[in-house]
Amino acid sequence: MQIDTIRWVSGKDPDHLPGLVRLIDQTRLPLELHYIETRALEDILHALRVLQVRGAPAIGIAAAMGVALAAQHALEKGNDLSAAVAEAAEALAATRPTAVNLSWALQRMRRVAGAGAGLPDRDRVVQLIREARRIRDEDEAICRRIGEHGAALLRDGQSVLTHCNAGGLATAGYGTALAPVYRAQEEGRRIHVFADETRPLLQGARLTAWELGRAGIACTLICDHTAACVMREGRVDAVLVGADRIARNGDTANKVGTYGVALHARHHGIPFYVCAPVSTFDPHTADGAAIPIEERRAEEVTEGFGPRTAPPGVAVYAPAFDITPAELVTAYVTEKGILQPPFEFEDYA
Ligand code: MRU
Repeated sequence: MQIDTIRWVSGKDPDHLPGLVRLIDQTRLPLELHYIETRALEDILHALRVLQVRGAPAIGIAAAMGVALAAQHALEKGNDLSAAVAEAAEALAATRPTAVNLSWALQRMRRVAGAGAGLPDRDRVVQLIREARRIRDEDEAICRRIGEHGAALLRDGQSVLTHCNAGGLATAGYGTALAPVYRAQEEGRRIHVFADETRPLLQGARLTAWELGRAGIACTLICDHTAACVMREGRVDAVLVGADRIARNGDTANKVGTYGVALHARHHGIPFYVCAPVSTFDPHTADGAAIPIEERRAEEVTEGFGPRTAPPGVAVYAPAFDITPAELVTAYVTEKGILQPPFEFEDYA
């Protein structure tokens, strides 16, 4: 099931200027499907920080489009284009440090900006917009291939467990960890999904349950700590999760709580699959210890969705992600097939 998570909008002619970015405000789900339209880099920075757009591939797409907006703005104002791109990329890179798709997408944008130096500014802006749109469109195709490879692991009537949201909302529209489920459904198989609610920001409850319901896929929402119970009860055939960054040795950063799910899965002999595009594999990071982990505000834990649920002033530790060691991962489902470390991609350098 395809969701229109984020796209560049520019009228009939894709190169028409100025264009704008249209994205789902995910903080308003599941109550309301609301789209934001923006021509300002600042709005993209805000959207990334408050998780209006989130999930590693969607973060990369938003960052690329943020650079394109900054370039477009510089053209309108007659400002230095290279400087605008460099400043935008620096600000965007700081928003979500764990998701490597962010720096990967920014690197692509910087390369296009550099290659266009010497051309008229308008042509450079058009090239940057095209690259941002390409990153989005490629993601859609890549996720479909992840779905094809992953669906081969699933049989009719099986039940999978997932943590956080690595679905259409976390990508251009088809998902990574949920892609095999969508693909299996397209092939006529019924898969049931246990969705961990995913404390503290409830991406599983708010987003995964919403998008699976919309797609007509049977979903049971569970509290995070119920995952071990349903595994013990023999009700989980496989775990499918996404990733924010995968180190060279296969250690995987994903939403905090994923590590615990992987330990439970190993204890119960359940396969644990990480589903991610090659752009989430970081050739510059040897192992999980070297992955920077984003820390979130204490208020997201103490009063995330309404009244305060902890005493004022209590010390809070709120890492957004944790590291699942490679030894707990059964396999990595990518657009290039089902892989094991060490990873050797020709475009992985
Ligand atoms: O903080 P978030 O909501 O951006 O975290 C998202 C996740 O942890 C996802 O599982 C990961 O980015 C993979 S998305 C395909």
